[in-house]
Amino acid sequence: MSTTTQNSNPAATRIAWGSRWSFLLAAAGASTGLGNIWKFPYEAGLHGGGTFILVYLPCALLVAFPLMMAETLVGRYGGSDPVNSLRRIAREERLSSLWQSIGWLGLLTGFLIFTFYSVVASWTLYYIMNSALGSFVGVPAEIVQHSFGALLRNTDQMLLWHTIFVLMVVVVLTRGLNKGLERAMRMLTPCFLGLIIWLCLYASRIGDFDAALAFLMHYDLSAITAELIVSALTQALFSLSLGMGAMVMFGAYMRDQRSIASTTAWVMLFDTAVALIMALMIFSIVFAFGMRPDAGPGLIFSTLPVAFAQMTESSALWSTSFFVLLLSATLTSAFALLEPIIAWMTNSWRISRRLAAWLVGALAWVGGLLSLYSFSGLKFSFYYFGIERHHGFFDLLNIIAIHLFMPLGALLLAVFVTWRVHRAETKTLLSMRLNIGYRLWRFCCKIVAPLALSAVIILVLFFPA
Ligand code: PFF
Repeated sequence: MSTTTQNSNPAATRIAWGSRWSFLLAAAGASTGLGNIWKFPYEAGLHGGGTFILVYLPCALLVAFPLMMAETLVGRYGGSDPVNSLRRIAREERLSSLWQSIGWLGLLTGFLIFTFYSVVASWTLYYIMNSALGSFVGVPAEIVQHSFGALLRNTDQMLLWHTIFVLMVVVVLTRGLNKGLERAMRMLTPCFLGLIIWLCLYASRIGDFDAALAFLMHYDLSAITAELIVSALTQALFSLSLGMGAMVMFGAYMRDQRSIASTTAWVMLFDTAVALIMALMIFSIVFAFGMRPDAGPGLIFSTLPVAFAQMTESSALWSTSFFVLLLSATLTSAFALLEPIIAWMTNSWRISRRLAAWLVGALAWVGGLLSLYSFSGLKFSFYYFGIERHHGFFDLLNIIAIHLFMPLGALLLAVFVTWRVHRAETKTLLSMRLNIGYRLWRFCCKIVAPLALSAVIILVLFFPA
């Protein structure tokens, strides 16, 4: 592993990315994942296409982007995993060591999201396998469509793929930053880009681009509800991998004094472009085959294979390519979800990285079982605000980790960086050329993001859907 000294951190002899481009590749790889290919299209489909995008874009620009800069800044300043970075900054700034709880919350959120992520990854692996074997070719639409429901009830299949996915992630992470995570990101991110171009060419040939474009551009201001705003804002945080310490970790691995603003701006643009392109591609296939855009979480799993199955030419090839694309994006994000926990364990417990990766992997495997079995009856009933609710662990994780912990972690971090850390320090660390840029960032992080995130937390806690 390469090490380097960083001037903003006195104690730092630290592990770092091997090249200037690695931060960009890794951050782009971590941010493009299920959020872009699976969640963004189905959320847009459920919330009227263009209406969702109209709310999503300001959330990404005014809340998520400034927060991404803030998280990277914390990593650069603290130079370590989220918990130790925050502890070190709190010490330097003479603040309470309680601020390190933001790091703890981030680790917990990342872990919970991983368990949920690995279940969706298990569906992806199942579809890769069946597409490659041509199992859907020429099969009637209703049967293909029902295959998703059947998979959800088939815990043995999901268990097998979930186990394989966790193993894939752990094996890469045991190999260390430069030889494991960085090398995997360098291979997978270009593959991912190549597959996107290939699939877009395909969609433009067989899909209904005009209908998809019309759907994604049509908006209705009266359809903007509090629930839509919560979905759009949490989607922006999720998509840019915020509120979980991942960007703190990546910022800590940043070797040079590259501009945080321009690097994170590229990541945000890339992430948003991928989400929009994927939505365009998926809806053009959905509309061309007369299917509904509001199918919810099953959108890409229950509708796309139907479309692929109806194609006469190279159906298996296209379908396999799509799910391989999804898998490569899922893997790069999954590495980023577990990396902060592994780094924290090696830093704090002084154990080897290999042991830390296997321990976290084993725990994540067990955690994933709870989500996995929620589709075959492992559900909880409880009363909240006088209404009886019946949720599986998978739905609860969505509510607790994505709608509550993630905004809370992001809110606390924004408050910490702008209200508690000295202004001069953040100014030096961001080293933005234009003072107006710095002021805008500070305003968004200090006022806009805390207000928006507090509103989300209040809505989720006190006005549940
Ligand atoms: N940004 C990822 C996605 O859009 O699927 C999700 C994610 C990955 C969140 C890694 C957090 C993280 F650390």
